[in-house]
Amino acid sequence: MTQAVAKTILEVRNVSKHFVVKKNLFSKKRLIEAVRNVSFEVIEGESLGLVGESGSGKSTTANLILRLLDCSEGRISFRGTVISDLTEGDMRRLRKDIQIIFQFTSSILDPKMTVEELLTEPLRIHGVVEEHELDPEVNRLLSLVGLSPDERPKYPDQLSGGQIQRIIIARAIAPRPKLIVCDEPVSALDVSIQGQILNLLTRLKSELELTYLFISHDLKVVRHICDRIAVMYKGEIVEIGTKDDILSNPEHDYTKHLLSSEL
Ligand SMILES: Nc1ncnc2c1ncn2[C@@H]1O[C@H](COP(=O)(O)OP(=O)(O)OP(=O)(O)O)[C@@H](O)[C@H]1O
Ligand SMILES: [Mg+2]
Repeated sequence: MTQAVAKTILEVRNVSKHFVVKKNLFSKKRLIEAVRNVSFEVIEGESLGLVGESGSGKSTTANLILRLLDCSEGRISFRGTVISDLTEGDMRRLRKDIQIIFQFTSSILDPKMTVEELLTEPLRIHGVVEEHELDPEVNRLLSLVGLSPDERPKYPDQLSGGQIQRIIIARAIAPRPKLIVCDEPVSALDVSIQGQILNLLTRLKSELELTYLFISHDLKVVRHICDRIAVMYKGEIVEIGTKDDILSNPEHDYTKHLLSSEL
């Protein structure tokens, strides 16, 4: 019997990020160690959950992976290439391959753009299809996220919260990425809509052969969608393992606390 070899798509190795902050002109500089010596791998095709309380460094980790921030120490590699070594041209490629879905807020979409324009924009920027194929491609994206072509002329303020989150997801899948970093994609949504969006993300993952790094402070959400879980606490990864291991046999006090507060 042949078995598929697990391939690492993303490798985070001994990564730290500190911020220097000054409250005001006269106060002393203070060092915030947002991420401390973090190492983990994401395997192609999996969904790795990153859980932790507010301020534990989850979004900072996401921003480092997307190179929206630079690491203070350590390195991050995507498909074997160290991302800090990439040239501007290679970065464009990386921006296509790694997408992020941020936490839902209605202000995340330009209120002056229609759904059609919002979906055409990433297709053009990344040169995904020829100009004459834009129209059917917009419809294909809408159908992938469970929306009808009737939504094309609408503006964001004419859409429901769930519909807006579907458009945000459609924009993220438009460049045909390999990896999507989902940073709390459902936490601001109504509980009834959360389930629908999680089901959509699960379906898209298998249909489009995606890999997810799925950030959430909510174990219920992570339980629903992830294969493995990494637990972050005060800037460090305190444990990582399969979903079953972490949920049925937590080792770190913070994970135990997360699990008990879920009941
Ligand atoms: N640009 C910045 N400048 C200074 N400090 C920052 C900056 N970004 C993040 N921090 C600090 O780094 C720490 C980690 O923040 P981060 O946003 O990564 O947490 P998080 O786990 O995503 O939290 P949440 O669940 O609330 O989104 C926090 O103490 C935060 O205040
Ligand atoms: Mg965050």
